[in-house]
Amino acid sequence: MPHGVEARTRPEDETSPLLFPPSGATGLLPADGRRASQAWPPRLRRPAFGGDYNPEQWPPETRREDIELMRSAGVNAVTVGVFAWATLEPEPGRYEFCWLDDVFERLYRADIVVVLATPSASPPAWFSKAHPSSLPVTREGVRLGLGSRESFCPSSPEYRRAAQEIAGQLARRYGAHPALALWHVGNEFGAHVGGCYCSVSQDAFRAWLRARYGDLEALNEAWGTAFWGQRYGDWDEITVPRAAPMPVNPTQQLDFRRFSNDEFLACYCGERDVLRAITPDIPVTTNFMSSDCPNLDYWTWAPEVDLVSNDHYLTAESPENHIDLALSADLTRSLARGRAWMLMEHSTSAVNWQPRNLAKAPGEMLRNSLAHVARGSDSVMFFQWRASRRGAEKFHSAMLPHAGTDSRVWRELVEMRQALTSLAEAGGSTVATDVGIVWDWPSWWALELECRPSIDVTFREAVATVHRALWQRNLTVEFVRAGDCPTHLPVLLVPSLYLCSKATADALRQYVEQGGHLLVWFFSGIVDETDAVHPGAYPGALRDLLGVRVEEFHPLHRDEQVRLSCAHRAGTWSEPVGLRGAETVWHFENGPDAEGPSLTRHLVGQGTAWYLATSPDAQGLDAVLAHVLGEAGVPWQENPDDLDVVRRRAGNTEYVFLLNHSENGVTTQQDGLDLLTGRTHEGTVEVPPGGAVVLRRTTPH
Ligand code: GAL
Repeated sequence: MPHGVEARTRPEDETSPLLFPPSGATGLLPADGRRASQAWPPRLRRPAFGGDYNPEQWPPETRREDIELMRSAGVNAVTVGVFAWATLEPEPGRYEFCWLDDVFERLYRADIVVVLATPSASPPAWFSKAHPSSLPVTREGVRLGLGSRESFCPSSPEYRRAAQEIAGQLARRYGAHPALALWHVGNEFGAHVGGCYCSVSQDAFRAWLRARYGDLEALNEAWGTAFWGQRYGDWDEITVPRAAPMPVNPTQQLDFRRFSNDEFLACYCGERDVLRAITPDIPVTTNFMSSDCPNLDYWTWAPEVDLVSNDHYLTAESPENHIDLALSADLTRSLARGRAWMLMEHSTSAVNWQPRNLAKAPGEMLRNSLAHVARGSDSVMFFQWRASRRGAEKFHSAMLPHAGTDSRVWRELVEMRQALTSLAEAGGSTVATDVGIVWDWPSWWALELECRPSIDVTFREAVATVHRALWQRNLTVEFVRAGDCPTHLPVLLVPSLYLCSKATADALRQYVEQGGHLLVWFFSGIVDETDAVHPGAYPGALRDLLGVRVEEFHPLHRDEQVRLSCAHRAGTWSEPVGLRGAETVWHFENGPDAEGPSLTRHLVGQGTAWYLATSPDAQGLDAVLAHVLGEAGVPWQENPDDLDVVRRRAGNTEYVFLLNHSENGVTTQQDGLDLLTGRTHEGTVEVPPGGAVVLRRTTPH
């Protein structure tokens, strides 16, 4: 039994007096007083290995078996209580902690730390019955029901109060328990309900707008309400953007997105502050869905968590889902500003919510896990520990499948634990990055509103296409927040920055003037933060920096292609580019802008600003990037086998992750000690089909 702690149990129904001494000076924060946001949670081992554990769904004998099996699998951390509110508080104000006390003690004795969730993602039925106004309402005015999860309006004061109350109860009860490593507030905020259109939300929206604009004139101006006679003479006339006969005012919709983000963030921060007040030494997180969440602007969330954590699920039927995994992990690490992050959830095999839930192939779980670790996660956690027998997720894979330990998934899991143990020394090392891409949620929101020049111009897909092209060349991406000036990156790519404030445009100019190589795609820099078109010709805010002038857009037919002078083809977009300082690198050979520039280059200060006026096919994009990165001195290497190569570094030690997602063996030129097998490689390494190699080597300083 570690630390000699005795089992502690309490009678049920107690309203949580302090069970453990207050967690004052437990020395969990670094000595210099830095918040945990700059440090890995001290009680969480690296790599953290485990998953969501829902003991309330199982009888005591199963819970006992759980702990034994967790030990045999090498689990060292579990997330407990995510949806346990109704079990913890079966009636208003009556708490049942006994079962959780027992779980804590058993885990503690098994040397497994607890990531304790506040259960606010799933308010109990009694709560919703008592406060029906806390149920969320859709854009069409439908109030959503119970019997599922996430049935709450983020603006509901009753909901926020109750969520904070149960968080406080948990903090007082378990705050000083030595097994508690990390708080996990709620679950995937904004996953199922992106915003609520009820009257409570409407009042909150009006208050939010007053704070943003100050007076109605400013709002009328920003929203352009002179158009279609939408002018407001009183704050009470403004509504949330409910379904209407024609598209609702785009700025109103955009502000509603911002407002909804802020409301969910306020829910999180409200709970976090309660937790911090009672347990100042225990770091707090909430699980993001980084690149898969269109509803939240995680750049605004990341500074509010002590540790960035993320959930990722493969799209099973996509043959390139491992590249999408890389995108998610790269964005997560970027949100963490390069620091170690936590993979909170992924799946051992199939999920249950896609049209066809394909099982992972043998070895795929390990490869997926290592791909997250390669990109900076110091944890491998799963949803969930034991496969459910009942409920909506019973066909979702788990660490312990229905078939039990005599199963492929279990055997692979046990093997994986060994692999992760041998990688423990890489914990805390940082990922080497090569190229920046701007990722901006407001641009995503604004770009995909109605009435744009072409539905083929999208945000996520545009970014993913560029990320994929770099992945195929083994270049690791750092995502950059709009408005930042990442002078440490030689190249910054801007695939789709439709919404671009003056401040963001200034930051991009500064980046180029100081020597950066910037590549901007069509339909970027078009509107300001209120979705108003920047005055003058396109691309508005970026026109002078790019040295071009565009009078109108020429979106193409679906599947139409034009030829470019570089011998490649392009689709989606064409436009008549006038040169105002830039020079032509490639031109359109046919289409609406035949003979006109399709790729331009403008020298500004110490750097170069490139402009791409169309969407080249895969080979064309590869050629553009080769050109731009070549000038910036970033090596554009052949990678014919699509081997995934990522580097983590600590001092002069380098960890090279070689992940082969293909069905063919790959031989590559590398040296080093394979931490997974203990074999030393000199000159060449063979990575088997679907296999992985992690080399450690020393680099000259
Ligand atoms: C996540 C969620 C988990 C579980 C999982 C299934 O989005 O946080 O609770 O539902 O999906 O894939």
